[in-house]
Amino acid sequence: MPLASTPVAIAGKVKHDQKKAIPGVARRSPRLVGLVALLALVLSACSGSGPQTALNPEGPIGRTIDDLWELVFILATVVFVIVQAALIYAIVRFRARKGDDSEPVQVHGNTRLEILWTIIPVVILAAIGFPTVRGIFDVRAIAEGADVLQVQVTGHQWWWEFEYVDLADETGRTLVTANELYIPEDTEVNLTMTSADVIHSFWVPVLAGKRDAVPNRVSNLTLIADNPTPPDAPHPGQCAEYCGLAHADMRIKVHVRTQADFDAWVADQLTPATIPTEGAAAAGYEAFNTCVACHNVTVMGENGPEDIGVVRTIEVDGVTFTSSLAPNLTHFGGRDTFGSGTFENNAEHLAQWLADPSELKPMRPELNDIPNGRILGMPNFNLSSDDIANLIALLEGWE
Ligand code: CUA
Repeated sequence: MPLASTPVAIAGKVKHDQKKAIPGVARRSPRLVGLVALLALVLSACSGSGPQTALNPEGPIGRTIDDLWELVFILATVVFVIVQAALIYAIVRFRARKGDDSEPVQVHGNTRLEILWTIIPVVILAAIGFPTVRGIFDVRAIAEGADVLQVQVTGHQWWWEFEYVDLADETGRTLVTANELYIPEDTEVNLTMTSADVIHSFWVPVLAGKRDAVPNRVSNLTLIADNPTPPDAPHPGQCAEYCGLAHADMRIKVHVRTQADFDAWVADQLTPATIPTEGAAAAGYEAFNTCVACHNVTVMGENGPEDIGVVRTIEVDGVTFTSSLAPNLTHFGGRDTFGSGTFENNAEHLAQWLADPSELKPMRPELNDIPNGRILGMPNFNLSSDDIANLIALLEGWE
């Protein structure tokens, strides 16, 4: 993206000029120095290469948005440069000079100019307007057809629940996971979204625009990704609608896989967790009794798959959404992150989390309203260090 380098160059130049200019200017105008310093600071903010950017799209919908942005940016820059050049020329060329008190020539009306400065903006606005309207329709189109991967999304304070409604095991249990969304490359994915509590907004900048997930409403968003992501670099996303204390930690990871790798992932996810029978993990399974008040997990029982914990659903506009109180943990050990894509999934972080969740992620578990399904975070259960170690062994074993 050539645009990314421009602000760096500008920032560098400003700093350079500032160095030369400071002694003279500082005496005359400390305000100017302050302004230049502020400008340099603001422009330097553009120089980073943050991964959560809409300027390096990784799919056709992201590209539609980026192309539109580029068109508007280029046109706006041309207009800005021409207007500023004309303004500066007029200020310098026609400024009042010493000893010249004569009144400038007074002009009233100029039909040719007025027609010109009406037509030019009309042409510019049309050049922006037509692609914008077409882009809005392209971006808002709901993906349809047998080849579309259907994923239902429920926003929660403060995590995301994903249900792959067409992917189920032989008992009819659908694939449910949290925060880390897996999709196949080059495939239309239709997200059907709602919220269990307040308004959230699903936003993965490299793939698509934002779309609100609203309680008691259904909204849709199409994702298409060009290429598989490296295992350690999924596309990052973020809840983009302020939704309370842990809004900033309501993140999303989108892993893009080849169709074969995606199918393997699906088969793995549809396999129930095993109930450990010995060691720390078995002791952890005893302690897990506390967790299933909110979390749920599918385990392989004596008579086949069994759901442990409470699986809840909500019905919105005739669509049944899985709406658990807390993330499904069947394949927790296989996730890269936890706490809604915020913390790397390792024993050290898990130990901190289990000892005091709100210490890691700001939450209000004292306000949990479980009968009504409103959960504002995981409480501190004052687990013993043995329980914590055993639970970690259990959860990391559930890959
Ligand atoms: Cu959910 Cu912000």
